Amino acid sequence: MTAAPTDGAPFVVVANRLPVDRTVSPDGTIDWRTSPGGLVTALEPVMRAKGGAWVGWHGAPDETVEEFEHDGFTVVPVPLSAQEVNEYYEGFSNATLWPLYHDSVAFPEFHREWWDSYQLVNQRFAQRAAEVAGPGATVWVQDYQLHLVPTMLRELRPDLKIGFFLHIPFPPVELFHQIPWRRQLLGGLMGADLVGFQVPGGAQNFLRLARRHAPEKVTVKGSEITLGDGRVAVAKAFPISIDTDGFRELAESDEVKAEARQLREDLGNPKVIFLGVDRLDYTKGLRQRIRAMGELFAEGKLDPSEAVLLQVATPSRERVEEYKRLRDDIDLLVGRINSEVGGVGRSAIVYRHASFPRHTMAAMYSIADVMVVTPLRDGMNLVAKEYVACHGSDDGALVLSEFAGAALELKQAYLVNPYDLNGMKETLMQAATDGPRVRRRRMSALRRQVTEHTIDRWAQNFLDTLDEVARAHG
Ligand code: ADP
Ligand code: F6P
Repeated sequence: MTAAPTDGAPFVVVANRLPVDRTVSPDGTIDWRTSPGGLVTALEPVMRAKGGAWVGWHGAPDETVEEFEHDGFTVVPVPLSAQEVNEYYEGFSNATLWPLYHDSVAFPEFHREWWDSYQLVNQRFAQRAAEVAGPGATVWVQDYQLHLVPTMLRELRPDLKIGFFLHIPFPPVELFHQIPWRRQLLGGLMGADLVGFQVPGGAQNFLRLARRHAPEKVTVKGSEITLGDGRVAVAKAFPISIDTDGFRELAESDEVKAEARQLREDLGNPKVIFLGVDRLDYTKGLRQRIRAMGELFAEGKLDPSEAVLLQVATPSRERVEEYKRLRDDIDLLVGRINSEVGGVGRSAIVYRHASFPRHTMAAMYSIADVMVVTPLRDGMNLVAKEYVACHGSDDGALVLSEFAGAALELKQAYLVNPYDLNGMKETLMQAATDGPRVRRRRMSALRRQVTEHTIDRWAQNFLDTLDEVARAHG
């Protein structure tokens, strides 16, 4: 057990990533950059509003960094050695759980030393959270990298209210069964009072698994799991969202409007701009999307003097084999398509492997006539919601994979199965050529959805439910 610090934080987020990454340039200059991915996009506004502490890794190996204040909350860096980055982060988190949880679209690897490292690092995160949380504090643990933290933390600090939210899909029973450490992973989550998932299917998968593979005898009734000691853990869906007003205001600002005009001009003022925005990840369906767009150009259905695909991809997990392969494949595919279609002046596909500041993202969203979001599997996909938020005037069209969590909410998008190339090509053309009334009707329904369901509401909903569960069963 760890003693509760009397001056500890009343609210603590624990995530593998901090909101900012520490980078050191070759001349030794230290910089802090916004971390990649949806988790940070979603939780940063929550922390700015609530304050408290954010416990996480600062993105660089073999460095111990002191706590510091950032945007109204305390940042608490957890160190990882180079070996732990390799085994816990790149290995067990991103080469075992990540592919398996995404329908095994890449082959998950199982290594016992990765699992050892995962346990060790989870214990370190739990220990750090126990040291910074005030008496009776709420601690909100995030995502698949930290499955074991809720139970470890409860052992250290039984006074805490503990929530867990999984940002990625929770897999069907048949896939989860394969994991040699399935009992321990399930048991880890059961330490939380409330376990949140993106969609109801994830919560149902978890409850089914709890019934069969919990490390102890449990009773499952509805969304409640009663454990041996009488404690109750509840599993439910809480679809995550974005800071909708923040994105809309950004897109409507004079600076972003000017940037958008410039961007359109830089692209050669095409009639139709298709846009893709992703972390460079094999779950995002980039190969399929680019192939479909390439065929539309090659078949003359899209004219490269009038249409362009702007694809930006944030570098991600660059030392993991599957990600290296993906990067090479996309470079090759884009190069081949651009060498085969179009005139000499302009490329059919403008591809940038880079991260951009938020105002540039908003400018890109604003000029896109068709947003193309085609993951093979995705917990939610915030890019789809950001695009809608940036189109206050109801222009634009969203092409969205059926396999993104967002498809359950954004039903008026142009839905596609990314494995069906012909179907995807037809829908891409439909989205680009439908009349303004149809497109407006669809976009206005989408806009209503993201205006009503914001990140504030999501956080409030989760934390209110956590309070209720802890009060009723704690
Ligand atoms: P994931 O969490 O798997 O990365 P999401 O779509 O939920 O997927 O979230 C991605 C987040 O990263 C969004 O907030 C998006 O704006 C941001 N993002 C994606 N690509 C880029 C990029 N090239 N530059 C800057 N931000 C990006
Ligand atoms: O939301 C999924 C997620 O994996 C987050 O947990 C993570 O922070 C983000 O995407 C980006 O990935 P990474 O932290 O591995 O760069």
